[in-house]
Amino acid sequence: MNLEEIESQAKQDLEKVLNLQELQQVKAKYLGKKGYITLALKEIAHIPPEQRREYGAKINRIKGHLEALFKEAEERLRKAEIERELLASWEELTVSLPKHVGAIHPISQTLARIKEIFLTMGFSVEEGPEVELESYNFDLLNIPKEHPARDMQDTFYVNKEGYLLRTHTSPVQIRVMLSQKPPIYMVAPGRVYRRDDDPTHSPVFHQVEGLVVDGQANFKHMKYTIEVFLREFFEREVPVRFRASYFPFTEPSAEVDIGCLVCGGAGCRVCKGGGWLEVMGCGMVHPKVLENCGIDSELYQGFAFGMGVERLCMLYFGIDNIKLFYENDLRFLRQFRWS
Ligand code: DAH
Repeated sequence: MNLEEIESQAKQDLEKVLNLQELQQVKAKYLGKKGYITLALKEIAHIPPEQRREYGAKINRIKGHLEALFKEAEERLRKAEIERELLASWEELTVSLPKHVGAIHPISQTLARIKEIFLTMGFSVEEGPEVELESYNFDLLNIPKEHPARDMQDTFYVNKEGYLLRTHTSPVQIRVMLSQKPPIYMVAPGRVYRRDDDPTHSPVFHQVEGLVVDGQANFKHMKYTIEVFLREFFEREVPVRFRASYFPFTEPSAEVDIGCLVCGGAGCRVCKGGGWLEVMGCGMVHPKVLENCGIDSELYQGFAFGMGVERLCMLYFGIDNIKLFYENDLRFLRQFRWS
Protein backbone atom coordinates (compact mmCIF):
# COMPACT_ATOMS: atom_id res chain seq x y z
CA MET A 1 0.00 0.00 0.00
CA ASN A 2 1.21 3.47 -0.74
CA LEU A 3 0.70 6.28 1.71
CA GLU A 4 -2.61 7.47 0.21
CA GLU A 5 -3.98 3.95 0.33
CA ILE A 6 -2.92 3.58 3.94
CA GLU A 7 -4.69 6.79 4.83
CA SER A 8 -7.95 5.95 3.08
CA GLN A 9 -7.92 2.37 4.37
CA ALA A 10 -7.41 3.67 7.92
CA LYS A 11 -10.40 5.96 7.51
CA GLN A 12 -12.56 3.14 6.25
CA ASP A 13 -11.50 0.90 9.13
CA LEU A 14 -12.22 3.65 11.59
CA GLU A 15 -15.75 4.10 10.30
CA LYS A 16 -16.57 0.49 11.07
CA VAL A 17 -15.32 0.70 14.66
CA LEU A 18 -18.13 0.11 17.24
CA ASN A 19 -16.40 0.23 20.57
CA LEU A 20 -13.20 1.20 22.36
CA GLN A 21 -11.74 -2.27 22.10
CA GLU A 22 -12.08 -2.34 18.31
CA LEU A 23 -10.66 1.16 18.18
CA GLN A 24 -7.51 0.01 19.98
CA GLN A 25 -7.07 -2.79 17.42
CA VAL A 26 -7.43 -0.44 14.46
CA LYS A 27 -5.12 2.07 16.10
CA ALA A 28 -2.47 -0.61 16.58
CA LYS A 29 -2.87 -1.68 12.96
CA TYR A 30 -1.76 1.77 11.78
CA LEU A 31 0.08 3.51 14.59
CA GLY A 32 1.31 0.59 16.69
CA LYS A 33 4.88 -0.70 16.76
CA LYS A 34 4.30 -2.79 13.67
CA GLY A 35 1.60 -0.57 12.26
CA TYR A 36 1.54 0.62 8.65
CA ILE A 37 2.52 4.17 9.50
CA THR A 38 5.34 3.12 11.78
CA LEU A 39 6.69 0.76 9.13
CA ALA A 40 6.30 3.43 6.48
CA LEU A 41 8.35 5.77 8.67
CA LYS A 42 11.08 3.16 8.84
CA GLU A 43 10.98 2.97 5.02
CA ILE A 44 12.49 6.44 4.92
CA ALA A 45 15.98 4.90 5.05
CA HIS A 46 15.37 3.30 1.66
CA ILE A 47 14.06 6.43 -0.02
CA PRO A 48 16.44 8.34 -2.25
CA PRO A 49 17.83 11.31 -0.25
CA GLU A 50 16.28 13.95 -2.53
CA GLN A 51 12.76 12.55 -1.95
CA ARG A 52 13.12 12.04 1.76
CA ARG A 53 12.05 15.48 2.83
CA GLU A 54 8.83 15.34 0.82
CA TYR A 55 8.14 11.73 1.89
CA GLY A 56 8.81 12.55 5.54
CA ALA A 57 6.54 15.60 5.46
CA LYS A 58 3.75 13.63 3.84
CA ILE A 59 3.95 10.75 6.24
CA ASN A 60 3.97 13.07 9.24
CA ARG A 61 0.91 14.89 7.92
CA ILE A 62 -0.93 11.59 7.48
CA LYS A 63 0.21 10.39 10.90
CA GLY A 64 -0.95 13.63 12.53
CA HIS A 65 -4.27 13.45 10.72
CA LEU A 66 -4.88 9.83 11.73
CA GLU A 67 -3.89 10.52 15.33
CA ALA A 68 -6.42 13.33 15.45
CA LEU A 69 -9.13 11.07 13.97
CA PHE A 70 -8.39 8.30 16.47
CA LYS A 71 -8.48 10.75 19.36
CA GLU A 72 -11.81 12.11 18.26
CA ALA A 73 -13.22 8.60 17.80
CA GLU A 74 -11.96 7.60 21.22
CA GLU A 75 -13.74 10.50 22.90
CA ARG A 76 -16.95 9.79 21.04
CA LEU A 77 -16.89 6.09 21.93
CA ARG A 78 -16.03 6.76 25.56
CA LYS A 79 -19.04 9.06 25.88
CA ALA A 80 -21.29 6.51 24.21
CA GLU A 81 -20.07 3.85 26.62
CA ILE A 82 -20.91 6.01 29.65
CA GLU A 83 -24.36 6.72 28.26
CA ARG A 84 -24.93 3.03 27.71
CA GLU A 85 -23.99 2.30 31.30
CA LEU A 86 -26.26 5.05 32.60
CA LEU A 87 -29.13 3.81 30.50
CA ALA A 88 -28.66 0.29 31.79
CA SER A 89 -28.88 1.39 35.42
CA TRP A 90 -31.63 3.95 34.91
CA GLU A 91 -35.03 3.42 36.53
CA GLU A 92 -38.13 4.97 35.10
CA LEU A 93 -39.57 6.09 38.41
CA THR A 94 -42.51 8.01 37.06
CA VAL A 95 -43.83 5.13 34.99
CA SER A 96 -43.20 1.95 36.97
CA LEU A 97 -45.00 2.92 40.18
CA PRO A 98 -45.14 0.10 42.73
CA LYS A 99 -48.24 -2.00 42.16
CA HIS A 100 -49.31 -2.06 45.80
CA VAL A 101 -49.66 1.28 47.51
CA GLY A 102 -49.61 0.93 51.28
CA ALA A 103 -52.25 2.20 53.69
CA ILE A 104 -51.88 3.96 57.00
CA HIS A 105 -52.93 1.52 59.72
CA PRO A 106 -56.47 2.26 60.96
CA ILE A 107 -55.17 2.68 64.52
CA SER A 108 -52.64 5.26 63.34
CA GLN A 109 -55.35 7.04 61.38
CA THR A 110 -57.58 7.07 64.46
CA LEU A 111 -54.80 8.37 66.72
CA ALA A 112 -54.05 11.12 64.20
CA ARG A 113 -57.71 12.15 64.05
CA ILE A 114 -58.06 12.21 67.85
CA LYS A 115 -54.93 14.35 68.22
CA GLU A 116 -56.11 16.70 65.48
CA ILE A 117 -59.47 17.28 67.18
CA PHE A 118 -57.86 18.10 70.53
CA LEU A 119 -55.16 20.28 68.96
CA THR A 120 -57.96 22.30 67.37
CA MET A 121 -59.49 22.71 70.83
CA GLY A 122 -56.20 24.11 72.14
CA PHE A 123 -54.82 21.02 73.87
CA SER A 124 -51.17 20.03 73.62
CA VAL A 125 -50.02 16.50 72.83
CA GLU A 126 -47.76 14.90 75.45
CA GLU A 127 -45.93 11.59 75.58
CA GLY A 128 -44.67 9.32 78.30
CA PRO A 129 -42.57 6.14 78.38
CA GLU A 130 -44.09 2.69 77.95
CA VAL A 131 -41.78 1.29 80.63
CA GLU A 132 -43.08 3.37 83.50
CA LEU A 133 -42.39 3.88 87.16
CA GLU A 134 -44.76 1.82 89.29
CA SER A 135 -45.31 4.88 91.43
CA TYR A 136 -46.49 6.97 88.46
CA ASN A 137 -48.67 4.20 87.07
CA PHE A 138 -50.31 3.48 90.45
CA ASP A 139 -49.27 5.20 93.70
CA LEU A 140 -49.39 8.84 92.67
CA LEU A 141 -52.70 8.16 90.90
CA ASN A 142 -54.13 7.22 94.28
CA ILE A 143 -53.94 3.48 93.63
CA PRO A 144 -51.95 2.25 96.65
CA LYS A 145 -50.49 -1.25 96.91
CA GLU A 146 -53.11 -3.84 97.81
CA HIS A 147 -55.73 -1.59 96.21
CA PRO A 148 -58.17 -3.79 94.27
CA ALA A 149 -57.80 -1.52 91.25
CA ARG A 150 -54.35 -3.03 90.72
CA ASP A 151 -56.03 -6.34 90.03
CA MET A 152 -58.38 -4.69 87.56
CA GLN A 153 -55.35 -3.95 85.43
CA ASP A 154 -53.32 -7.13 85.40
CA THR A 155 -49.82 -5.83 85.09
CA PHE A 156 -46.67 -6.86 83.23
CA TYR A 157 -43.75 -6.19 85.52
CA VAL A 158 -40.24 -5.78 84.16
CA ASN A 159 -36.99 -7.08 85.59
CA LYS A 160 -36.24 -3.95 87.48
CA GLU A 161 -37.64 -3.11 90.88
CA GLY A 162 -40.18 -0.30 90.70
CA TYR A 163 -40.79 -0.46 86.94
CA LEU A 164 -43.59 -1.94 84.82
CA LEU A 165 -45.18 -1.73 81.39
CA ARG A 166 -47.73 1.01 81.85
CA THR A 167 -51.26 -0.34 82.14
CA HIS A 168 -52.84 2.94 81.06
CA THR A 169 -51.84 6.38 79.81
CA SER A 170 -52.86 8.03 83.08
CA PRO A 171 -49.22 8.19 84.36
CA VAL A 172 -48.61 10.82 81.68
CA GLN A 173 -50.98 13.05 83.70
CA ILE A 174 -48.59 12.69 86.62
CA ARG A 175 -45.55 13.47 84.49
CA VAL A 176 -47.17 16.58 83.08
CA MET A 177 -48.45 17.85 86.43
CA LEU A 178 -45.02 17.31 87.99
CA SER A 179 -43.27 19.24 85.24
CA GLN A 180 -45.74 21.95 84.18
CA LYS A 181 -47.71 24.58 85.99
CA PRO A 182 -51.46 24.98 85.42
CA PRO A 183 -53.28 25.88 83.28
CA ILE A 184 -52.81 22.45 81.69
CA TYR A 185 -54.75 21.26 78.66
CA MET A 186 -53.20 18.10 77.30
CA VAL A 187 -53.85 14.77 75.65
CA ALA A 188 -51.46 11.81 75.78
CA PRO A 189 -51.83 9.10 73.15
CA GLY A 190 -49.91 5.85 73.41
CA ARG A 191 -49.52 2.14 73.79
CA VAL A 192 -50.50 0.36 76.99
CA TYR A 193 -50.07 -3.21 78.20
CA ARG A 194 -52.21 -5.63 80.17
CA ARG A 195 -52.16 -9.35 80.80
CA ASP A 196 -55.33 -9.82 78.85
CA ASP A 197 -55.76 -11.88 75.74
CA ASP A 198 -59.18 -12.95 74.57
CA PRO A 199 -61.47 -12.18 71.60
CA THR A 200 -62.20 -8.68 72.87
CA HIS A 201 -58.87 -7.88 74.56
CA SER A 202 -55.34 -7.57 73.27
CA PRO A 203 -52.29 -7.51 75.60
CA VAL A 204 -51.11 -4.37 73.81
CA PHE A 205 -53.54 -1.66 72.92
CA HIS A 206 -53.82 2.11 72.71
CA GLN A 207 -55.33 4.82 74.83
CA VAL A 208 -55.60 8.56 74.71
CA GLU A 209 -55.53 10.31 78.03
CA GLY A 210 -56.88 13.80 78.52
CA LEU A 211 -56.16 16.21 81.35
CA VAL A 212 -57.26 19.73 82.12
CA VAL A 213 -56.14 21.57 85.24
CA ASP A 214 -57.30 25.12 85.62
CA GLY A 215 -58.71 27.36 88.32
CA GLN A 216 -62.31 26.97 87.24
CA ALA A 217 -62.36 23.59 85.49
CA ASN A 218 -65.60 21.82 86.42
CA PHE A 219 -67.76 18.84 85.51
CA LYS A 220 -69.78 20.84 82.99
CA HIS A 221 -66.59 21.81 81.13
CA MET A 222 -65.61 18.16 81.06
CA LYS A 223 -69.00 17.10 79.71
CA TYR A 224 -68.89 19.73 77.02
CA THR A 225 -65.32 18.88 76.01
CA ILE A 226 -66.14 15.19 75.70
CA GLU A 227 -69.38 15.81 73.82
CA VAL A 228 -67.69 18.09 71.32
CA PHE A 229 -64.92 15.54 70.86
CA LEU A 230 -67.35 12.68 70.22
CA ARG A 231 -69.37 14.70 67.74
CA GLU A 232 -66.21 15.65 65.85
CA PHE A 233 -64.82 12.15 66.00
CA PHE A 234 -67.95 10.40 64.69
CA GLU A 235 -68.75 13.28 62.33
CA ARG A 236 -72.36 13.39 63.46
CA GLU A 237 -74.56 14.11 66.45
CA VAL A 238 -74.37 11.11 68.75
CA PRO A 239 -76.40 10.61 71.94
CA VAL A 240 -73.99 10.79 74.90
CA ARG A 241 -74.67 9.52 78.40
CA PHE A 242 -72.57 9.98 81.56
CA ARG A 243 -72.96 7.09 83.96
CA ALA A 244 -71.66 7.28 87.56
CA SER A 245 -68.63 5.07 88.04
CA TYR A 246 -65.46 4.71 90.06
CA PHE A 247 -61.79 5.39 89.40
CA PRO A 248 -59.32 5.95 92.24
CA PHE A 249 -57.80 9.01 90.54
CA THR A 250 -61.06 10.88 89.94
CA GLU A 251 -63.93 11.96 92.18
CA PRO A 252 -66.65 12.00 91.05
CA SER A 253 -66.04 9.57 88.21
CA ALA A 254 -68.15 8.63 85.24
CA GLU A 255 -68.22 6.34 82.29
CA VAL A 256 -69.23 7.78 78.96
CA ASP A 257 -71.57 5.87 76.67
CA ILE A 258 -72.74 6.75 73.19
CA GLY A 259 -75.95 5.58 71.58
CA CYS A 260 -75.18 2.43 69.61
CA LEU A 261 -74.04 3.43 66.14
CA VAL A 262 -75.15 0.14 64.65
CA CYS A 263 -78.79 -0.10 65.79
CA GLY A 264 -79.38 3.52 66.80
CA GLY A 265 -80.25 2.47 70.35
CA ALA A 266 -82.81 -0.24 69.62
CA GLY A 267 -80.47 -2.99 70.83
CA CYS A 268 -78.30 -5.27 68.74
CA ARG A 269 -75.39 -7.71 68.88
CA VAL A 270 -72.77 -4.92 69.02
CA CYS A 271 -74.32 -3.13 72.02
CA LYS A 272 -75.38 -6.49 73.49
CA GLY A 273 -78.99 -5.39 73.43
CA GLY A 274 -78.50 -2.34 75.69
CA GLY A 275 -78.51 0.32 73.01
CA TRP A 276 -75.42 2.03 74.48
CA LEU A 277 -71.68 1.63 73.93
CA GLU A 278 -69.06 2.57 76.50
CA VAL A 279 -66.31 4.71 74.98
CA MET A 280 -64.31 6.24 77.84
CA GLY A 281 -63.84 6.88 81.52
CA CYS A 282 -63.62 10.33 83.05
CA GLY A 283 -63.95 12.38 86.19
CA MET A 284 -62.79 15.32 88.24
CA VAL A 285 -59.14 14.83 89.19
CA HIS A 286 -59.00 13.61 92.79
CA PRO A 287 -57.60 16.36 95.08
CA LYS A 288 -55.08 13.82 96.40
CA VAL A 289 -53.69 13.35 92.89
CA LEU A 290 -53.28 17.10 92.45
CA GLU A 291 -51.53 17.32 95.82
CA ASN A 292 -49.31 14.32 94.96
CA CYS A 293 -48.03 16.43 92.07
CA GLY A 294 -47.55 19.60 94.08
CA ILE A 295 -50.66 21.37 92.81
CA ASP A 296 -52.73 23.21 95.41
CA SER A 297 -56.17 21.59 95.29
CA GLU A 298 -57.70 24.64 96.97
CA LEU A 299 -56.64 26.79 94.02
CA TYR A 300 -57.02 24.36 91.16
CA GLN A 301 -59.50 21.83 89.88
CA GLY A 302 -59.08 19.45 87.04
CA PHE A 303 -60.82 16.89 84.94
CA ALA A 304 -59.45 13.89 83.14
CA PHE A 305 -60.59 11.28 80.70
CA GLY A 306 -59.19 8.16 79.14
CA MET A 307 -60.38 6.45 75.99
CA GLY A 308 -59.60 3.19 74.25
CA VAL A 309 -58.40 3.84 70.72
CA GLU A 310 -59.20 0.36 69.39
CA ARG A 311 -62.79 0.71 70.57
CA LEU A 312 -63.26 4.09 68.91
CA CYS A 313 -61.57 2.88 65.75
CA MET A 314 -63.79 -0.22 65.57
CA LEU A 315 -66.91 1.87 66.01
CA TYR A 316 -65.83 4.47 63.47
CA PHE A 317 -64.92 2.00 60.74
CA GLY A 318 -67.39 -0.74 61.68
CA ILE A 319 -64.75 -3.36 62.53
CA ASP A 320 -66.01 -6.22 64.70
CA ASN A 321 -62.84 -8.03 65.79
CA ILE A 322 -59.98 -6.39 67.67
CA LYS A 323 -57.52 -9.08 66.52
CA LEU A 324 -57.72 -7.75 62.95
CA PHE A 325 -55.59 -4.77 64.02
CA TYR A 326 -52.60 -6.93 64.90
CA GLU A 327 -52.64 -9.71 62.31
CA ASN A 328 -51.31 -7.60 59.43
CA ASP A 329 -53.60 -9.29 56.95
CA LEU A 330 -53.25 -7.24 53.77
CA ARG A 331 -56.84 -7.96 52.74
CA PHE A 332 -57.89 -6.08 55.88
CA LEU A 333 -55.27 -3.32 55.83
CA ARG A 334 -55.79 -2.46 52.14
CA GLN A 335 -59.31 -1.32 52.91
CA PHE A 336 -57.92 1.70 54.75
CA ARG A 337 -56.24 3.34 51.77
CA TRP A 338 -57.24 6.93 51.31
CA SER A 339 -57.26 6.94 47.54
N1 DAH B 1 -56.98 4.96 83.17
C1 DAH B 1 -58.31 4.42 82.99
C2 DAH B 1 -58.19 3.01 82.42
O1 DAH B 1 -57.22 2.70 81.87
C3 DAH B 1 -59.11 5.26 82.07
C4 DAH B 1 -59.45 6.56 82.67
C5 DAH B 1 -60.62 6.69 83.40
C6 DAH B 1 -58.59 7.63 82.54
C7 DAH B 1 -60.94 7.88 83.99
C8 DAH B 1 -58.91 8.85 83.13
C9 DAH B 1 -60.12 8.95 83.85
O2 DAH B 1 -58.13 9.91 83.04
O3 DAH B 1 -60.43 10.15 84.42
O4 DAH B 1 -59.10 2.26 82.51
